[in-house]
Amino acid sequence: MIRGIKGVKDILPDETARWQFVEQHARQTAGLYGYREIRIPIFEMTDLFARSIGATTDIVEKEMYTFQDRDGASLTLRPEGTAGAVRAYIEHNLAADPLPQKLYYLGPMFRHERPQAGRLRQFHQFGVEFFGTADPRADVEVIALLWRFLSGLGLPDLALEMNSLGLAEDRPAFKAVLLRFLKERESRLCSNCRRRMETNPLRVLDCKVPECRAATEDAPRLTDHLSPEARRHFDKVLGGLSLIGVPYRLNPRLVRGLDYYTLTAFEVTSSQLGAQNAVGAGGRYDGLVEALGGPKTPAIGFAVGLERVTLMLPQGNTPSVQRSVYVAAFGERGSSAGLTLVEELRALGVSANTDYRATSLKAHLRQADRLRSIYAVIVGDEEVSKDFLVVRDMDTKQQENLPLKGAAQSIALRYRSDGERAFSR
Ligand code: HAM
Repeated sequence: MIRGIKGVKDILPDETARWQFVEQHARQTAGLYGYREIRIPIFEMTDLFARSIGATTDIVEKEMYTFQDRDGASLTLRPEGTAGAVRAYIEHNLAADPLPQKLYYLGPMFRHERPQAGRLRQFHQFGVEFFGTADPRADVEVIALLWRFLSGLGLPDLALEMNSLGLAEDRPAFKAVLLRFLKERESRLCSNCRRRMETNPLRVLDCKVPECRAATEDAPRLTDHLSPEARRHFDKVLGGLSLIGVPYRLNPRLVRGLDYYTLTAFEVTSSQLGAQNAVGAGGRYDGLVEALGGPKTPAIGFAVGLERVTLMLPQGNTPSVQRSVYVAAFGERGSSAGLTLVEELRALGVSANTDYRATSLKAHLRQADRLRSIYAVIVGDEEVSKDFLVVRDMDTKQQENLPLKGAAQSIALRYRSDGERAFSR
């Protein structure tokens, strides 16, 4: 048989209820903050990602799924959503809209990474992008949305880490200071970091290799080299977070793996996640819209990895699902009555199910049990000839006869009056 691709997972029916619950919570939280959904394509021109994420990032250098279209154009499966959202913002002139553009998206992303728990090659993100506001209160709002989304799901051991990457103009001076520091310790760094010193020295601070971490323990901090403007922005963001009660800690090593960031950078981690501990992350990217050919537009956003969220979702927080009414039909006339009944129940908004393979009452009741049905409705030739059917409560095992005529309406009434019991976890 042909198997699925490594790092690309099926989400099976037993898991989709959790996914739908998380997605619904994402839509609801985004709506609460006034964000509207944007659906951006799964693939884009390769240049879009190379130019926005940065040519020397791991994503662009090693992780993109890039292929040639039939006309020779180089296309790439989106490794993240920000680049596509920015392209759409520019292409459709959303800047002309007098409303601030507050967008959210949900969907699959693709990165050729080494698969492990919480790290996949096709994974899903919930992301938001807030265009057009440089005010630090926009940063606070975006982070508050992220925090409310994650903590509202009851995820354990969340920690918000904050850093400022300074203005783009602050970066060259800091890079020079950092490079001087790294040069003195070059022999202690991994080969990847030695290469990064040339291409992207900030990324050395983010290396997970213990020797590199030890060697850069007392590395210069970006936050000690901020321009007064960047410092003021960062202080206002931190002050705003404290004001609205979102707890954070400073992490001067937080540099992010994408090059478009300026000023605020943040990440929410959980100690429950092991090595891949980032649940969601983001930051400000005030230069990106302009760099991609749009008007000068400050922007900020985040994305959450939904595999990681569903992994951590506490059992008790899984959604309740509607229990169904099981129709156990037998014989010639019973089968016809069952076929009508099951459809009538659905038309009345009652979840109804049956198994056309079952021929004995025992087999039917076993299926009703497996499906965690609330009632089994038994209807055979004998019942039809006497104009009634039997409703068996699957929890109490009590049975009651009901007239066949109007049975769907009576069952629907009973189903609704059972309230909570009609749902199961
Ligand atoms: P990112 O940090 O690359 O940022 O990804 C955001 C989140 O996506 C991560 O924290 C993680 O939970 C999840 N994630 C990333 N890679 C994988 C993977 N291979 N398998 C499973 N989950 C993964 C961005 O993507 C930016 N676009 C965020 C952003 C939006 N910044 C501004 N706006």
